[in-house]
Amino acid sequence: MKKLTVILCLLAVSVCLMGQAQTGITAENRADWFKEAKFGIFVHWGLYSILGGSYNGHTLPDTTMANGKSWYAEWIQQRLEVPADVYRRLEEQFNPVNFDADAWIAEVKNAGARYFVITAKHHDGFALWDSKVSDFDIGNTLYKGELLGDLAKACKKYGIKYGFYYSHWQDWEHPQGAVPHWQPTRPDADFEKYWREKSLPQVRELIERYDPDLFWFDTWNEETHINEVRRDELIAMIRELSPKCLINGRISFYNPGEDIDFIEMFDNAYPDKILEKPWQTPATMVHSWGWHANDFNWKPTQRMLGYLINNTAKGGNYLLNIGPKADGTFPSAAVHRLREMGGWLFANGEAIYGAKPVKIDSIPDGVILTQKQIASGERVVYVGINKQMDEVVLPLGLNKIHKCTVLETGMPVDFVQERDIVRLILPAKLFTDCNIQVIKIE
Ligand code: GLC
Repeated sequence: MKKLTVILCLLAVSVCLMGQAQTGITAENRADWFKEAKFGIFVHWGLYSILGGSYNGHTLPDTTMANGKSWYAEWIQQRLEVPADVYRRLEEQFNPVNFDADAWIAEVKNAGARYFVITAKHHDGFALWDSKVSDFDIGNTLYKGELLGDLAKACKKYGIKYGFYYSHWQDWEHPQGAVPHWQPTRPDADFEKYWREKSLPQVRELIERYDPDLFWFDTWNEETHINEVRRDELIAMIRELSPKCLINGRISFYNPGEDIDFIEMFDNAYPDKILEKPWQTPATMVHSWGWHANDFNWKPTQRMLGYLINNTAKGGNYLLNIGPKADGTFPSAAVHRLREMGGWLFANGEAIYGAKPVKIDSIPDGVILTQKQIASGERVVYVGINKQMDEVVLPLGLNKIHKCTVLETGMPVDFVQERDIVRLILPAKLFTDCNIQVIKIE
């Protein structure tokens, strides 16, 4: 008996190692692509997109309230107290006739993003795929296409990694799923039923059907049912089904453990120091994540680019959200911004993709630094500049500089190198219409 157990264990270990050898994926290299990618696009899309922030004559405010309550449009069911049966009947209206998976991902690609994350299921519990686990899903709507499958296919075509947001904790449809803190709490023993009946099986289903590159789970700074046992059970299941699949830290905001692949910041939150573990900021273009027809807080492209560059300089990523309309199209203002970002990245992406932070004590105001080691072993430093200045003084101990140019145009930049100081004399013609320019020091 003992012998048999040993043989079985050895067999299991070798199957496991074979799997690893086949894919070459290990815990150490799994997130390599993510660390290089820097920029991703997030999509919040579901039944709430039909309401677009308004219900029954009321419109959600487009800001966070003084008490910290957020009024995100994807929360409309809770915030404007839409009765469960009314919300459920939105299924009958879900029919994105203008949805074109290829066009979406072409836009993502042109924006210069390298990965794509969509809400496979948000807190309302509605699945954007035809799920065998629950019938609150796209299979019950007028839309008959393979939405997630088509998106996955398009991502493969354009070389974009893809993943799913899955609300593993909050679920307002399942009678035992978690609900917001102002609702009567559901006992943990009940939550267990939801966990086994819906949460775990749907994550499994998503992996088996669509083979995602990452999972984006969501909890925040309040008590959840996601204790260490459940967290680790979910992680173990994913690791077993798909060794390549990344897992974000919001699987358990306060206690993500050691086995997650990257830290997920709070919404639109930007750390002010370099972090060693991979991380990312989920960010909005307006206030809401889901489509809100009366949310006009569109951020200018320059500001969003600033966040992207800053995050890169601190070792992190930027996951920028779009809330598509119910008909399946991206709002024009979002497309406009994506194309502007793509234009900038087309010319300056070298300073972003695969770039690393530069660890120096003081960086002058208006300056952002990234760096790369190139094939020859030489170090290249990229100096992002977002305001007109005559010169920039950097406390950078570099080997001999042999070239210094504006990355976008190739215009030479004069410099003086004195021991541990580099002084860049900025050309008067540095800023044309774009006010973030990058100087490349080789
Ligand atoms: C918050 C919100 C949610 C949104 C998410 C994105 O957790 O509850 O609606 O999906 O942030 O970061």
